[in-house]
Amino acid sequence: MENRPKIIVTGGAGFIGSHTVIELIEAGYLPIIIDNFSNSQEWIIDRMCILTQSKITYYSVDCKSYETMHELFSGLGDIAGVIHFAAFKSVGESVASPLKYYNNNIISLATILQLVLDFKIPKLVFSSSCTVYGQANQLPVTELTPVKAAESPYGYTKQVGEQMINDTIKEGAVILRYFNPIGAHSSGLIGELPIGKPENLVPYITQTAIGIRKQLQIYGNDYNTSDGTCLRDYIHVVDLAKAHVKALKFLDDNNTTETFNVGTGKGISVLEMVKTFETVNNVKLNYKIVPRREGDIEQIYADTTKANSILKWKAQYGIKEALRDAWNWELNIQQMKLSA
Ligand code: UD1
Repeated sequence: MENRPKIIVTGGAGFIGSHTVIELIEAGYLPIIIDNFSNSQEWIIDRMCILTQSKITYYSVDCKSYETMHELFSGLGDIAGVIHFAAFKSVGESVASPLKYYNNNIISLATILQLVLDFKIPKLVFSSSCTVYGQANQLPVTELTPVKAAESPYGYTKQVGEQMINDTIKEGAVILRYFNPIGAHSSGLIGELPIGKPENLVPYITQTAIGIRKQLQIYGNDYNTSDGTCLRDYIHVVDLAKAHVKALKFLDDNNTTETFNVGTGKGISVLEMVKTFETVNNVKLNYKIVPRREGDIEQIYADTTKANSILKWKAQYGIKEALRDAWNWELNIQQMKLSA
């Protein structure tokens, strides 16, 4: 008889989802993955099984499909919670194809919320983003920092998503505003798998270092920061994954709906990331400074007091560990390609 609390993890084969599934298993939960594999690979789940020495149940289903999801949930018995990761996340793509983002991110969340109500599921954890703050006037940002007009359809789906949850669930939801997730599992077995050319800094760094990309372009060194490059709050994906477990535990004892920043509290510049990557991994990176990227904000980092005190969560790792793990993962993918 299985008596671990069942947690549905939509997008559980993705970057943050897969790391969270590992942490859930380690914390004694029974995660059940629902993923349509539109931006993830099924073999990652095999790796997750190896890593946890357990069998992981997953369903290849699209979260937007209410009937299929309803049937699936009906067959699962008691569901203790849902962690909803499944969403598109490319800022640039969302500007080019806004309806793709509104259709996918909003409808899948509406479907999940309906199912949470239908099945009286007591806990929901939602992936939001620091993008909701835009360029804040005051740093670090707290959860009370005003949300700015969204600069991309992607950002708008996160703002609307938060509103949808606040309107629907008054008792039993946690909204996590992620800062910049980076790194990989220290085992080297799972990590980020960008499709095509990465938009994000760290996968671009690792792909340049391994020779897939010729050169990293640093977007602007004329910002009003210590070295002129943008500042972000980079958080190790394993730390971020652990915040989801803490969110479930928080909902054990609290019938509320709360929003938390999940970052480290430190603003790190792009150049500092590049230099740290070179130092910790002892590799040289080919890079050059180019003009600013449209839509980038100058700087953002989190005030994490609320998550520290209420969720009892704090980031354990810094960028050194994250950049070491990201490189280890890139080397692993390379190894896998060579032996395929
Ligand atoms: C963006 C979104 C964030 C989203 C994340 C996921 C905003 C404000 N932020 O984060 O909400 O969750 O994408 O995709 O919309 N950089 C380079 N060269 C590169 C790539 C990046 O210099 O090749 C720089 C950027 O200018 C930026 C930093 O690295 O200063 C981080 O960029 P990136 O990893 O793309 O994340 P954000 O834009 O911060």
